[in-house]
Amino acid sequence: MTQTVAEPATERGRDAHGAGGRGMHLTLHVWRQTGPNEPGRLVRYEARDVSPDMSFLEMLDVLNEDLMAQGQEPIAFDSDCREGICGMCSLMINGIPHGPLRGTATCQLHMRTFRDGETITIEPWRSRAFPVLKDLVVDRSAFDRIIAAGGYITATPGGPRDANEILIAKPTADEAMDAAACIGCGACVAACPNGSASLFTAAKVAHLGLLPQGQPERDRRVLAMVAQMDAEGFGGCTLHGECQEVCPKEISIDTISRMNRDFLTANLRTADS
Ligand code: SF4
Ligand code: FES
Repeated sequence: MTQTVAEPATERGRDAHGAGGRGMHLTLHVWRQTGPNEPGRLVRYEARDVSPDMSFLEMLDVLNEDLMAQGQEPIAFDSDCREGICGMCSLMINGIPHGPLRGTATCQLHMRTFRDGETITIEPWRSRAFPVLKDLVVDRSAFDRIIAAGGYITATPGGPRDANEILIAKPTADEAMDAAACIGCGACVAACPNGSASLFTAAKVAHLGLLPQGQPERDRRVLAMVAQMDAEGFGGCTLHGECQEVCPKEISIDTISRMNRDFLTANLRTADS
């Protein structure tokens, strides 16, 4: 293990908790890997004067500024919206996808969640279907291919129909909206001992399959998306339930049961036709 000392002492870091105030001191063990086919290792950094009000990603930003000031390569990690919407942030924090707070994406996690003096291990998602590209960045294009296989509806061109023309029962609309909350982060895969993508795929199948607009392709959708999920090398679901525990949108494992029912029904209907 290489020891590197970085002290985040930039103005940005100090300003976040008041001039002259003392912040937290953290020891970070961060996965560093120069490329997909290179060996990786945990590298130790000392992060000093960290504001409790910083987000986890801001803490890494400050660390990176310091690394660059010292002429070192910054730590590569994914982020985009930084408000729990896009699903890009994807860090394994002390062995838990997105860290210790339930229903919280990495970008919404604040340093006050941790104790002063704590050691934090930061790794990328670990899954055969999500190969590491660099440091903490993994390739999640397998999810894109599952969506491309069937995560859409066919709509007739022309003016949109009035929304009130299509009546949907409130419980059904709520269930569809809950499933649609999936941000495609991949935490469910990272947490699953089998590396299964069932919660993600089930959420995408459910949010269209529950609504009238999703009915024409319902059977074709579930068959194609499950087939693509298998083809990507994700493991099978054996109902461990780890996925729903770490999902930042708290999507229920019941969604997988719904997908399995849809899959069986679609298979029967296809066999009949
Ligand atoms: S189901 Fe939850 S954990 Fe899985 S990709 Fe969607 S939001 Fe992320
Ligand atoms: S950066 Fe978009 S959800 Fe975290």
